[in-house]
Amino acid sequence: MPATPEGATAHRSIVLADEAATAALAAALARQARPGDVVTLAGPLGAGKTSFARAFIAALGVKDEVPSPTFTLVQTYEAAIGTVWHFDLYRLTSPDEAYEIGLDEALDDGAAVIEWPERLAGRLPADRLDVDIALSHEGEAREVRLAGHGAWNERGLDFGS
Ligand SMILES: Nc1ncnc2c1ncn2[C@@H]1O[C@H](COP(=O)(O)OP(=O)(O)OP(=O)(O)O)[C@@H](O)[C@H]1O
Ligand SMILES: [Mg+2]
Repeated sequence: MPATPEGATAHRSIVLADEAATAALAAALARQARPGDVVTLAGPLGAGKTSFARAFIAALGVKDEVPSPTFTLVQTYEAAIGTVWHFDLYRLTSPDEAYEIGLDEALDDGAAVIEWPERLAGRLPADRLDVDIALSHEGEAREVRLAGHGAWNERGLDFGS
């Protein structure tokens, strides 16, 4: 993969044959994660955002069950990297509500995984990894597009998969 210039965005597209492939990618990305990181997870209902988040959080060393935060909007976990915040913003009524449920704190103090980032209407930090999962294949296969901005760009998305 060619080196990407500083300040640009690194892109990578990968076909994930099944849920295990999604989990393996999430774990590979978690191994590159640092305190303060933000990973957004976009894609339609049932795309695999929560499956990805579960594997990502588990790979950060969290042993707890990771329920979908569909109704609670957010769940937090303690990991070596700091507090890990898992948001599902599907039911958010306005971008401001995200701050009431701790988004600011999450961006300050830990790592955040955010399902349905569209609900924030673009109010996202500059340093982040965007993961967009599409149901563009038959059966269990998914196509994932990664876009690494800022600090994630500098890491080059250069991991095995
Ligand atoms: N390649 C794949 N990657 C991820 N999940 C897959 C894959 N193939 C099949 N699945 C299945 O698709 C479903 C994905 O559900 P999941 O809850 O992760 O979706 P979601 O994107 O979080 O949906 P929602 O928007 O409702 O929160 C699971 O039942 C999972 O087993
Ligand atoms: Mg989900």
